[in-house]
Amino acid sequence: MEQETPAALRRTAEEGARLAGRILAERFQGERTIEFKRSGIDLVTDADKASEEALLKFLRERYPGHAILAEESGASQGTGLRWLIDPLDGTTNYAHRVPHFCVSIAVDGPDGVLAGAVYDPMLDELFSAARGQGATLNGQPLKASDTTQLERALLCTGFPYDVRERPEGPVGLFNRFIRRAQGIRRTGSAALDLAYVAAGRFDGFFEFRLKPWDIAAGALLVMEAGGVMTLMDGSPFDVMRGDVLASAPGLADKLHTECGEFLKDLGWS
Ligand code: IPD
Ligand code: CA
Ligand code: CA
Ligand code: CA
Repeated sequence: MEQETPAALRRTAEEGARLAGRILAERFQGERTIEFKRSGIDLVTDADKASEEALLKFLRERYPGHAILAEESGASQGTGLRWLIDPLDGTTNYAHRVPHFCVSIAVDGPDGVLAGAVYDPMLDELFSAARGQGATLNGQPLKASDTTQLERALLCTGFPYDVRERPEGPVGLFNRFIRRAQGIRRTGSAALDLAYVAAGRFDGFFEFRLKPWDIAAGALLVMEAGGVMTLMDGSPFDVMRGDVLASAPGLADKLHTECGEFLKDLGWS
């Protein structure tokens, strides 16, 4: 039986992320099949499916008793810990051959995420963390930025696939920060956005209505790199609740105040 220590789980997440990342990279320049999920802006490619299939096989061999929640195939039952898998985060980028996407894998226990990895195969950047053991990028320790001023902060966000039906939160908060931060980006991969907060590249990230597989690994990276991870209304982070805010430690109060005022103005808190 494979060990279940955070360190062993982290190694498994790293191995799985690299294995799936290789599949994405190999197919990146080739022909791809694109299907639509809930709408014309919500895509899935053959690469998402191939990556997920390889990951499911790998994890079932490694930890046969564990549960899995994967984006494309849903949930499978288990008695032990639960793996949260995004086989390709950044599908729209991938479908347009924009080389910014990743694999995100994490494992969740009764008290929260234990270990996780985010792998960008185009830059060969492997971000990983285990609870209480810090976060690394290709083996080097990660630390969130020391920015304390919003006017100096580079922020990042994303838009959920239902943004056209429900634009108020995502578009409204984007507008608010355009006026207050040094800059704001929308990269198309929430897992990499969180990894970049952990690496001190971005000073903050927020997004509405993300899914557990988008955020589980990235949130652990942020927390283990000394960043602050909460829900948008400032309440404690919960991987099953998708309105998230990640901050550099010296900026967290300011971002919480901004988001709190915004939600209040909308009548959402
Ligand atoms: C999406 C990306 C994107 C975010 C969306 C996610 P997918 O995941 O992370 O950046 O804005 O909300 O759904 O579909 O590419 O795995
Ligand atoms: Ca995703
Ligand atoms: Ca995905
Ligand atoms: Ca998707």
